[in-house]
Amino acid sequence: MTNIALVTGASGFIGPSLCRHLKAAGWQVRAIMRRPVPGPWDASILIDLGREPVPLETLADVDCVFHLAGKAHALAQGPGADEEYRLANCRSTLDLLAASRAQGVRGFVYFSSVKAIGEGGGPGDDPGSEPAALSPYGRSKRAAEDAVLTSGAVPHPVVLRPSLVYGPNPKGYLELLIRAVRAGWFPPLPDLGNARSMVHRDDLVAATLRCAIDPRARGQTYVVTDGTPYSTRQVYEFILTSLGRRVPGWTLPPGLLRLAARGGDVLGRMRGSRFVFDSDVLDKLIGSAVYDGSQICRELGFRPHRGLGESMAEIVASTRPAP
Ligand SMILES: NC(=O)c1ccc[n+]([C@@H]2O[C@H](COP(=O)([O-])OP(=O)(O)OC[C@H]3O[C@@H](n4cnc5c(N)ncnc54)[C@H](OP(=O)(O)O)[C@@H]3O)[C@@H](O)[C@H]2O)c1
Repeated sequence: MTNIALVTGASGFIGPSLCRHLKAAGWQVRAIMRRPVPGPWDASILIDLGREPVPLETLADVDCVFHLAGKAHALAQGPGADEEYRLANCRSTLDLLAASRAQGVRGFVYFSSVKAIGEGGGPGDDPGSEPAALSPYGRSKRAAEDAVLTSGAVPHPVVLRPSLVYGPNPKGYLELLIRAVRAGWFPPLPDLGNARSMVHRDDLVAATLRCAIDPRARGQTYVVTDGTPYSTRQVYEFILTSLGRRVPGWTLPPGLLRLAARGGDVLGRMRGSRFVFDSDVLDKLIGSAVYDGSQICRELGFRPHRGLGESMAEIVASTRPAP
C-alpha cells in the first residue's frame, strides 16, 4: 500500500528535495504552500498556516506529516519578534497536531533547528539539561518541539534539529558569502579557529526519511550534521577554489575587521537601521556553532555521505551573482 505524506513548506529550500526523495521511495505527496508553485508533489493545498485553519480533509489518510513551514532565522530581530516567531512556528504546529490527532495520522516529523538549543556552546546550566534557546526563532522552535513530543497527538512524533543546511541554490549565510567572495569584496579572513556545524540537504533528507519509518525514532529529537565543523576561513577557501581563483597569500588583521564592524555599528545607529556589516554580522561570521549529531548515527545507523568541500563547486555554480 502506498504511504501518503503531507509536506508543509514544500516550496522552500529543503521541501522540494524532500518531496522528490519521498516520491522516489514510493510515497504519495501532498504539499501545503501559501501560493501555487509547481514541484515534485501529487497535489498542492494552499494554506497560510498559523493564520488559516487546517481543513481536516487535508490530513485524511495521511501516514506522516513532515512539517517544514516556518519563519526562518534572521540576523536582525526587532521588538515583537518573539510574538511573530511564535505565531509563525508554534501556531502552525499546534494546528497541524490537532488535525493529525483528529485524522489518526501516525507520524509527525518536525523540522526544528539547532537554534532550539542555543548557539552551539556547552551543556545547559543544570547538569544533564540542554542549553536554552537564545533567540526568538530558537525559542519558538523549542516550544513547537515540546508540543510535538508531549501532545500525544500522534503515535510516532520525531523532532529534527538540522544544523545549517547546504546544497545547490543556497539561502542566507552561504548565499551571502558566495556572492560577496564572487564580487571580490569579501576580505581574506584569517583562520580564527571558529567552527560551524553544517549538513548537506541530501543527507538531511535521508535522515528525515529514516526517522519517518524507523520505530526507534519514535519520540526522539535528533541533531543532524555532516560530522565536520567548518571554519569561515575554510568555507572562504572552498568558495575561491570553486570559482577557480587563487587563495590570497595575505589575511586581514582581526583588529581591522573589528574596527570596520564598529564603524558599521555607528553607521547603523546614525541612520536608525542596521548596516550590512556590523559587530553582530562579524560575530556570526567568526563565531562558532558546533553541535553534536552523533545520536542519530548511533541509534538509527544514519551516515552522512556529503561534505561541504566536495559540494561547493555545485553550490557555487547554482548561485547567481548579486543583482
Ligand atoms: N535551511 C537551513 O539551514 C535550516 C537549518 C535548520 C532548520 N531549518 C528549518 O527547516 C525548515 C525548512 O527550512 P528551509 O530552509 O527549506 O526554509 P525556507 O526555504 O525558508 O522555506 C520555508 C517554506 O515554508 C513556507 N511557509 C512559511 N510560512 C508559511 C505559512 N504560514 N504557511 C504555509 N507555508 C509557509 C514558505 O513558503 P513561502 O514561499 O510562501 O514563504 C517556504 O516554502 C524550516 O522550518 C527551518 O526553520 C532550516
